[in-house]
Amino acid sequence: MFQSLTPLPPDPILGLSVAFKADTNPNKIDLGIGVYKDAQGNTPVMSAVKKAEDIILNSQTTKTYVGPVGAAEYNETVARMVLGETLYDSLGKRRVTVQSPGGTGGLRLAAEFIKKANADATVWVSDPTWANHVPLITSAGLKIEKSPYYDYTSHSVRFEEMLDCLRRVTQGDLVLLHGCCHNPSGADLNQQQWQAVRDVALKQGFTVFIDMAYQGLGDGIDEDVYGVRQLAESLPELIIVSSCSKNFGLYRERTGALTVICDSDASTKAATTLIAAAARANYSMPPDHGAAIVQLIMHDADLRSEWDQELTGMRDRINGLRSLLVERIAAAGIEEDFSFIEREKGMFSFLGVNVEQVPTLINDYSIYLVNSSRINVASVNESNIDYLTSSLAKVLSS
Ligand SMILES: Cc1ncc(COP(=O)(O)O)c(C=O)c1O
Repeated sequence: MFQSLTPLPPDPILGLSVAFKADTNPNKIDLGIGVYKDAQGNTPVMSAVKKAEDIILNSQTTKTYVGPVGAAEYNETVARMVLGETLYDSLGKRRVTVQSPGGTGGLRLAAEFIKKANADATVWVSDPTWANHVPLITSAGLKIEKSPYYDYTSHSVRFEEMLDCLRRVTQGDLVLLHGCCHNPSGADLNQQQWQAVRDVALKQGFTVFIDMAYQGLGDGIDEDVYGVRQLAESLPELIIVSSCSKNFGLYRERTGALTVICDSDASTKAATTLIAAAARANYSMPPDHGAAIVQLIMHDADLRSEWDQELTGMRDRINGLRSLLVERIAAAGIEEDFSFIEREKGMFSFLGVNVEQVPTLINDYSIYLVNSSRINVASVNESNIDYLTSSLAKVLSS
């Protein structure tokens, strides 16, 4: 039976990682992989996480099953973090939060839940969007359409075109938006734009679906959820997928959550059963370790303040690197305007080099980035920035 299988082409980002590891150039730089890196190029375990793990190791008394929706206290903690106390209280039983295996697991759970609510639903994603959105959503049997989002020339959101497109989306369909730190572009909606999205969603009756993978890595824990809270306050329905992979550095622990807000307590009750059944049919229940860490950190004043400081340090480093990159690019004699890098948020931006220049950067300079020219800003540091900007200057002038 298996002789007839043909292999899929290699995953472009993982392929890049393999090529990077094999490269012997001492100046090589990996701008591809999407994890936070510190000034030494490492992705360390956060110290609040280490301390929480120690406590869990010494106090856990059982590893018995938890259940398909995961740990109830963790779910409420994530809901409070994304919604804030006021909304958390006012939404009451209109909201349910279910633990998921990372943000990816939460997105998949959301897609299966949507399929049950409306088998014909189309999910509108931003053009461009995170590469995994499309396979995730379509493999759950939903249709995908793209709405305009990023202008590669002006390096800004094509907001009027996006709104025009959303004005044609109707009830029963969904609009998937990045809560903050848009991946791959780094270009986020401003406050007025979020309000306009809310207004069009109210008028058209479509359901907004938020992917919140980077809360705390843009402007701050509360600042980054401005849009989500605007929507949660006014819309009858909302789907939010949270990830603790980046802001707690829990990547491999698979820690996320799906929050669904319905127009009535009764609909939320029904939604909870459907989501729990989807979890049960897929993986039975989510892994516990990462969720236990998050729960402990958020409820212990000392650990929480330590985590807050570490997260602030990560965010400040990324934002500082954005300014430094713009400054050093100019200092390298590059005349093109790269100031957009400083305006964008989170780990990613498009460098804006063209399809011929990307392979030149990889093959001639050992600077690894994906074909779209998306770079992970956190991969830049004092030891590699001058090599990066001088190489870029050579490639752009050749
Ligand atoms: C936009 C976006 N959504 C979701 C995820 C999923 O994160 P995870 O499944 O690791 O929690 C990522 C990770 O890179 C992402 O960039």
